[in-house]
Amino acid sequence: MPRKIKIAILFSGNGSNMQNIIETFHQKKIIYENKEYFFEIKGCICNQKDAFGITRARNLEIPCLLLPHQDFTDRISFDLALEKEIKKMDVDLVVLAGFMRILSKKFCDSFKIINIHPSLLPKYKGANAIVESFESGDEEVGVSVHWVNEELDGGAIILQKSFLRIPEDSLEVFSQKIHALEYEIYPEAIKKAIASL
Ligand code: GRF
Repeated sequence: MPRKIKIAILFSGNGSNMQNIIETFHQKKIIYENKEYFFEIKGCICNQKDAFGITRARNLEIPCLLLPHQDFTDRISFDLALEKEIKKMDVDLVVLAGFMRILSKKFCDSFKIINIHPSLLPKYKGANAIVESFESGDEEVGVSVHWVNEELDGGAIILQKSFLRIPEDSLEVFSQKIHALEYEIYPEAIKKAIASL
């Protein structure tokens, strides 16, 4: 019998990583390191009402809850509402896919949470990582998947992958390469994270 793994995905915007994860895992049997898993994406939560990802989730027929953080007076009350909703989903793993919120320690301690970040952490933490990485002049650039704690982009690394920068690349081409690498590394990192639980 495959081990059943239930996942919740949190996002704030475009949702391309969310879509990639749903298409890779939802209701699929996957073998990783000689073990069988059966994945179910229980649902998505979005904190921005105009996020394009809401349309993606709808098209993929995955339940998507809209929980605008602006409706809450402070971070703690938003995190409490989020915690309550995720507990209802009863998941093994919470996957952040472009979820633009720093989460409180209590929230981080309540679930196993992972995040993808478009730089070779600890370099270029924060919301501007692609541009900072592009402007850095670093020869080697890449993406990271890490466990989430209350520090911004701060938890232990699960997987990183890099490539050598082509100096002539425009920011647009550079961003496309980063995103393509994200779609490759995030599913791998999810399997690795699940196998370690
Ligand atoms: C990605 O670059 C991810 O690394 C970062 O936010 C972006 C989300 O993109 N955390 P998308 O919404 O998945 O298209």
